[in-house]
Formats: sequence, C-alpha cells, structure tokens
Amino acid sequence: MNADSITLADALKQRRSVRGFMDKPVPQSVLEEVFSLAQHAPSNCNIQPWQVWVASGQSRDTLRERMVDKVSRGVPFEPDYDSLPRFEGVYRERQVECAMALYGSMGIAREDRDGRRRAELRNFQLFDAPHVAFIGMDKAFGVTVALDVGMYIQSLLLTMSAYGLGACAQGSMRYYPQDVREILGIPDSSAIVLGISFGYEDPDVAANKTRVGRAPLQDSVRFCG
Ligand SMILES: Cc1cc2nc3c(=O)[nH]c(=O)nc-3n(C[C@H](O)[C@H](O)[C@H](O)COP(=O)(O)O)c2cc1C
Repeated sequence: MNADSITLADALKQRRSVRGFMDKPVPQSVLEEVFSLAQHAPSNCNIQPWQVWVASGQSRDTLRERMVDKVSRGVPFEPDYDSLPRFEGVYRERQVECAMALYGSMGIAREDRDGRRRAELRNFQLFDAPHVAFIGMDKAFGVTVALDVGMYIQSLLLTMSAYGLGACAQGSMRYYPQDVREILGIPDSSAIVLGISFGYEDPDVAANKTRVGRAPLQDSVRFCG
C-alpha cells in the first residue's frame, strides 16, 4: 500500500493494535519512509525530543530472549517511570472491557490465570514481530516533553498503518529498560518511554480479531459556547 493513497480518516479508522505477525521483515527502504514521515510530528518549540531505536535481526532476538527469560523467572520490573495508576470508575470499566475483548478473542476465560499469564508473555515475545521500536527521551525531561513523544508515537502508528504495517504500542516494553539500553547501546541518559512491535499482520492469529470501541463523543468532548 502507498501511504499517499489513503485518507487521514481512513488511516485513523483503520489503525488498531496488532498482536500477531508474519515472519517477514519490512524492507529497509519502507522503514526509512515510514520513520521519515513520522518525523513530521509537532513538539514544544520544535525540540523533537523523541529518540528511536529499531531492533531487528540479532538485536531483536537477543532482546526477546532476555525479556522472556526475566518475565518467566518473575524478575521484578524496573521501569524508568512509575507504573500506571490504579484505574477506578469509568476508567476501570474501560480497562476491564479492553482486557475482556482481547482475552475473549484469544479464548481465555476471566478466571484462567495461566491463560492470562501466557497472553501477557506474548508482549515480551514481541507478538512474533520481526521489529520492535523503542521510543525514548532524555531522562531530564518530564511530562510536558512526554506530550511531544506521545504525538510522535501516534504519528508513527498512523504512518505504519497507512503503509499496510501492523503495530502494537506496548507500555510493557518499559519494564526492563536496563536490558534494552545494554543490548541496543542506548546511553544511560535516555529513558525508555514505550516500545512498538511491528511488521506485517498475521490475520490467522486469534488476538488480531480483537476490536475495541470508543466512548460516545459527548463523554469526552464538550463544546462550550
Ligand atoms: C501508551 C500505550 C501503551 C500500551 N501498552 C500495551 C501493552 O503493553 N500491551 C498490549 O497488548 N497493548 C498495549 N496497548 C494497546 C492498547 O491496549 C490499545 O491501543 C487500546 O486497547 C485501543 O485499541 P486499538 O489500538 O486496537 O484501537 C497500549 C497502547 C498505548 C497507547
């Protein structure tokens, strides 16, 4: 697919999290086009604080092995940032709905703890994606600069989708930042904000049948006269 051939509305509607990939690397020329387009993301004072490392081949394999090993042994997570808060009220309802949609498509019952653990492990197996992009920023920056990085991440996800690539943003790629820094040669001054596993979607993977909705417009947006 050519990114110029799809509308913005289509790109927004078509993008969704993909959690199962073909064993087929994305050509370097496509990677360069996609990551070049995402560079158009806006940022405070145009500082462009995002730092990106794309792991493929051996570095991807080593990362995957290291993370799977650590999670399987129950090694505590050591993220550069605090974990997500405990969600309550409507946020908790949406969180549960989202988990139910994913486990439902994977055939995992709510009380099936082993199944849920296996589903969680899929994150660290990178959902079998041939590539994982780690998105970081300088450790000195806080939430205001993280907004810029968020802008970049959505630009990248939309561009990937427009190019016919599947991707999943993964907060879980924050859990072992020291290993990511060591394996990819990332300086200690950089914090890992997020990982994105990506490649060509395998439509036969059950998790890829997952669809989640969105709240009605009036729950999120108020037009004030
Ligand atoms: C910042 C962020 C972190 C996320 N972390 C994970 C993750 O660790 N594992 C996962 O399977 N999905 C993760 N997701 C995907 C969300 O679950 C998904 O975007 C949400 O359910 C909406 O579904 P959609 O992307 O298919 O529209 C993350 C998404 C975002 C934006």
